[in-house]
Amino acid sequence: MRDELLSPEPTPDDLEPVLTDHPSGTDVIGEEGGLRPRHLDDFVGQRELKEHLGIILEAARRREQAVDHLLFAGPPGLGKTTLAGIVAAELQVGLHVTSGPALDRAGDLAAILTRLGEGDVLFIDEIHRLSRNVEEVLYPAMEDFQLDIVLGKGPAARSIRLDLPRFTLVGATTRTGLITGPLRDRFGLVARLDYYDADELQSIVTRAGGILGIGIDDGGASEIARRARGTPRIANRLLRRVRDFAEVRGDGRIDEATAHEGLAVFGVDDLGLDKVDRAVLSNLCQKFGGGPVGLGTLAISVGEAEETVEDVYEPFLIQQGLLMRTPRGRVATPAAWAHMGLVAPASAPLTADPSRSMFEA
Ligand SMILES: Nc1ncnc2c1ncn2[C@@H]1O[C@H](COP(=O)(O)OP(=O)(O)O)[C@@H](O)[C@H]1O
Ligand SMILES: [Mg+2]
Repeated sequence: MRDELLSPEPTPDDLEPVLTDHPSGTDVIGEEGGLRPRHLDDFVGQRELKEHLGIILEAARRREQAVDHLLFAGPPGLGKTTLAGIVAAELQVGLHVTSGPALDRAGDLAAILTRLGEGDVLFIDEIHRLSRNVEEVLYPAMEDFQLDIVLGKGPAARSIRLDLPRFTLVGATTRTGLITGPLRDRFGLVARLDYYDADELQSIVTRAGGILGIGIDDGGASEIARRARGTPRIANRLLRRVRDFAEVRGDGRIDEATAHEGLAVFGVDDLGLDKVDRAVLSNLCQKFGGGPVGLGTLAISVGEAEETVEDVYEPFLIQQGLLMRTPRGRVATPAAWAHMGLVAPASAPLTADPSRSMFEA
């Protein structure tokens, strides 16, 4: 149960359609669909990103032009898809959604590109997983709004060039490191999303509570926020589970005590760490004496890919001061030993040279 509750990846339960204002757009609102903010003003946190985006959108609106291509990077559940929806809604243009893995062949992308309307937003999730030949179709489309199509094969093959409407590509990725240079260079803005602090998550929970008609006070919202792993998706999910708990075991209202009890019933860690977070820390401490240990070894020990450990799990553990990246490998901090209820051996590298811990971070 705990795994699912705290995983930053979406589960069917929190699938929320992206909404568009476009008349022809498919405006589906699921039961909890309204939780996804539709306007920049409703998007909590990420102040700097919001400011930049606000300026870019306003400028495009005044010039009546399509917005420059935008790339949003960051761990799952922090609001990348939501921002793509906001860009389309703010500009009142159509939103077309696809993803890197879904675009198998160059023809798949060509089919989508030719359906775009003037100024529309094309959202490509997991854009780092685009195949090479699909990416090559994307370059001239992004830069010159042109599509080269090759007809026929061999000596008789010829290529024709189609003009595309001016569209805005919004890409999302958990892995900026995997975006090729040429693709990255074609974005007008590359923005990184950070984990949310407790106050921001509390406003997100309060806002969601209001939309879902849940009676939740500040104490309840703050208790849920504190354990949401810095991630709005998890905050909303914990809110729904605590609501279930409050309805079944209480009067449906959520205060601090109800939230505390509910989260305990569902086995949510005090810091909101999920199963893999905890496995990373416990292996680091128990199997590798607190480190330093190489990323590859650590990843194998928890059965995850190196990239996943590096991009999804470590950033939060580092932000919480539980793990350090040092030139010699990953090291558990004293807080990690304490959080896992373990006693650090006297020889544990309790204080790896902090001036060097920024090396890879
Ligand atoms: N800044 C925010 N303010 C309010 N709610 C947010 C915010 N960011 C994300 N959410 C909520 O969290 C959920 C996950 O966000 P999403 O955009 O799908 O994340 P990502 O695409 O980065 O994985 C959304 O459905 C939305 O309800
Ligand atoms: Mg997403």
